[in-house]
Amino acid sequence: MIHGYAYKPIVEAVSAQLARGSVWSANNRPQVELAEQIVRRVPSIEKVLFNNSGTEAFNLALNICRGATGRYKFLMAAGGYHGSMFDPSLGSKGLPGPSHYVAPYGDTEAFVAAIQQHGKELAGVFVEGIMGSGGFAQAPKSFFDAVKQAAHDVGAIFVLDEVISLRLSEGGHQATLGIDPDLTMMGKIIGGGFPIGGVGGKADLMDLTNPVSGHVLASGTFSGNPLSMVAGNISVAHLTQAKIDQIGAWATSIEAAIKAKSAAIGLPIWTRRVGSLVSWYFYDPGPGVVLGGARPDLAMVKLHHTAMLINGLFPTPRAALATSTAMSDAVVDDIIARFGASLEALLEDTGV
Ligand SMILES: Cc1ncc(COP(=O)(O)O)c(C=O)c1O
Repeated sequence: MIHGYAYKPIVEAVSAQLARGSVWSANNRPQVELAEQIVRRVPSIEKVLFNNSGTEAFNLALNICRGATGRYKFLMAAGGYHGSMFDPSLGSKGLPGPSHYVAPYGDTEAFVAAIQQHGKELAGVFVEGIMGSGGFAQAPKSFFDAVKQAAHDVGAIFVLDEVISLRLSEGGHQATLGIDPDLTMMGKIIGGGFPIGGVGGKADLMDLTNPVSGHVLASGTFSGNPLSMVAGNISVAHLTQAKIDQIGAWATSIEAAIKAKSAAIGLPIWTRRVGSLVSWYFYDPGPGVVLGGARPDLAMVKLHHTAMLINGLFPTPRAALATSTAMSDAVVDDIIARFGASLEALLEDTGV
């Protein structure tokens, strides 16, 4: 919720739209406007198609990959998450599912080797710009470039999942990293709090979904519905680079405060931060993927989550938070104070 839970401009615009209709089951003006905004902002995206969730975005991206290549399977990062169309626990346990393979995120050599090994079967290669459920692990640009090249070498499509990471710059995380995916999965911020998913990318691939000339089915009763479109237009337009920098600065303050408190009370904590996304660990996670259920500090994370709830904070139970434009310096100070109190409570409870 990039602008918080009840952002006034969105509440007002959506209320007005509601009186005019919530579903038209046809293309509509706000849909075109949102598509145009995204094409203007995200360098690799020439055309966009909307649906209703990140999960649906994955479904659509995979179908485009299948339609383009005539192949069936895909490859993703171990511990990656692209929605629940496929049971994500298969990925996070490192188990290959019935129609996909996994490879280690950030490990260029192993990832490329997996692409080469399964190349003839692969329709698409899917990676997150930054691993969301993988503990905000961040691979370097060179990893993405090598993965894209390897995918192309075997005739597969390179798909970047920006469902979370699109918030990190006006052009998405791909603009910051300087990577050029064939297809981009989107969600969350482009819906302003309403059900949303979308795929954008190169025109020749997106054209496969053209209902007249293409052969990839992409219809959906609620896809592009005007409520999500009206909300998404405001959400995206109001997420200026200045706002992105502001929420990044707040996240930096929160991260610094966690570290300072950790040092002050002698409770070792490691942090990761990319832009407005912060996560914390009671062990040194190194740079790699953190598999939620398997992390060695799980007991501490659970206790700490309870301590945070008691202190009036509700971040994700996997020890991560995202700042939003609805916050203020005062709110961030309050978060820092409550976070500090939760760590003191944890120290008392565990006697670490
Ligand atoms: C990287 C990533 N991809 C896909 C999804 C699925 O999106 P949705 O929950 O809208 O289906 C998520 C949701 O958190 C996500 O973080």
